[in-house]
Amino acid sequence: MISDAGGTIDANHAGYSGTGFANGANAVGSYVEWQVAGPASTLTFGFANGTTAARPVDISVDGTVVAAAVPFPSTGAWTTWSTVARPISLAAGSHTLRLTATTADGPANLDYLDVAP
Ligand code: GCU
Repeated sequence: MISDAGGTIDANHAGYSGTGFANGANAVGSYVEWQVAGPASTLTFGFANGTTAARPVDISVDGTVVAAAVPFPSTGAWTTWSTVARPISLAAGSHTLRLTATTADGPANLDYLDVAP
């Protein structure tokens, strides 16, 4: 993860991988961005959403939305982590992958991105 516009990297909800997770700002347009290497066919996001409402995001690759308003559903608690996977193709080489919140709640807390060939 290379950029988290307006958000923070937090570690206050147990169960994440690595050293923390991205807590994006609670706003439409808040985004979390990675630089990823293709080729890939499936992207899997680890996340938690401790609210009752889904937190949809647009997924874009190199500035083009490839999956719109993908819901990141409630996981029941901020310490309960789950995954959302989407069949998204990435050509060989480096790409900018961005999740942009489409509601005022912002994105879910994002733990990791797995890029599967
Ligand atoms: C709580 C929670 C955060 C979360 C936030 C939100 O403050 O502790 O981890 O990001 O809610 O609603 O986005």
